[in-house]
Amino acid sequence: MNTIDYLRISLLDRCNFRCQYCMPEGTELDYILRQDLLTRAEIITLLKEVFIPLGFCKFRLTGGEPLLRPDLVDIVSQIASLPQTRDLSLTTNGFLLVDLAQKLYDAGLRRINISLDSLNPQTFDNIIGNRGRTRWDKTWAGILAAYRVGFNPLKLNVVIIPGLNDGEILDLAALTIERNWHVRFIEFMPIGNGKLFSDLATRGSEADRAWIPSAELRERIASRWGLEESQVKGNGPADVWQIPGAKGTLGFISQMSECFCDRCNRMRLSADGWLRPCLLNQTGQIDLKTALRSGSDPQDLRAKVAEILLLKPEINYKQRDSGTLAGSYTRTMSQIGG
Ligand code: GTP
Ligand code: 5AD
Ligand code: SF4
Repeated sequence: MNTIDYLRISLLDRCNFRCQYCMPEGTELDYILRQDLLTRAEIITLLKEVFIPLGFCKFRLTGGEPLLRPDLVDIVSQIASLPQTRDLSLTTNGFLLVDLAQKLYDAGLRRINISLDSLNPQTFDNIIGNRGRTRWDKTWAGILAAYRVGFNPLKLNVVIIPGLNDGEILDLAALTIERNWHVRFIEFMPIGNGKLFSDLATRGSEADRAWIPSAELRERIASRWGLEESQVKGNGPADVWQIPGAKGTLGFISQMSECFCDRCNRMRLSADGWLRPCLLNQTGQIDLKTALRSGSDPQDLRAKVAEILLLKPEINYKQRDSGTLAGSYTRTMSQIGG
């Protein structure tokens, strides 16, 4: 049985980007009201009283865009200084990192995953739904700032969308040659923007599809440089490879072509305090915030979460066997926290 010791904590559902695959413009989102967001104190109480005693020791801060949360640096500093924290990381779009990278590092954050779907400013703006002055430069500057400050590993998340950025696979892979960066290609999931997914998948010809299997990306990369399995392993769902002689690595997150649900080691805490055992279905979710605010004894909450932990392997298998990845999901990644 997998050890479930990794909690992804969403700090808010708002975002300053509108990535086409996540929360495209026009998507009507009911943002969580400010008073319904877990406060910093509540997050820390839940960690100390509920999750850490149950063995959780790896934490990732997500959003929406977590850098929009005004007390982010304090949250990082408090989680980093808990003696039981073995791993603390953050997933961001990088746009606000120029100002925050050093502060986050000083607060105790050591690793970071940044989305970067294109090296071409026009394509980048198209993907993130930006019509104003390009946002590519500032995002790239944020990545370089994180690199300079010393985040290690520094991972770049790339969602490949056929017709949008699949022409850049080699350019993006090449980023790992000279720098110790970890570029991860993520298969596009029908979550967030089910319409884009089904439009791509039903354009007519059989060659049309919404996502490209990791194996095919690996072939393209291998035929340019060769590719070998890397000695460096992550603790997440990525399969890690390397261009021979490269300083960094290439990760492939293949939830469409090779469901990894049965080795899932994580649960999610939403920004409004729901604990979700699975990214893709709502079985077993519970509202920890309401329980906490109505004065429940943390011991009782711990017992409830312990029950869900026992259910988790079943939920993983159910998800794996349901074959519903190709279905459509109403919640966006920004609401669930990626
Ligand atoms: P590391 O711990 O650094 O390896 O990162 P991670 O893969 O846990 O984190 P990250 O936030 O960078 O996640 C990358 C992407 O993997 C997500 O945006 C999702 O697309 C996908 N992913 C992460 N967790 C799950 C999961 O539980 N199920 C599925 N289907 N996809 C997931
Ligand atoms: N399919 C795959 N990955 C997605 N992400 C967001 N939406 C999707 C989707 N539909 C990923 C982005 C980002 C993280 C927060 O979630 O790559 O790195
Ligand atoms: Fe893009 Fe991340 Fe914002 Fe979603 S949450 S719109 S993936 S930057």
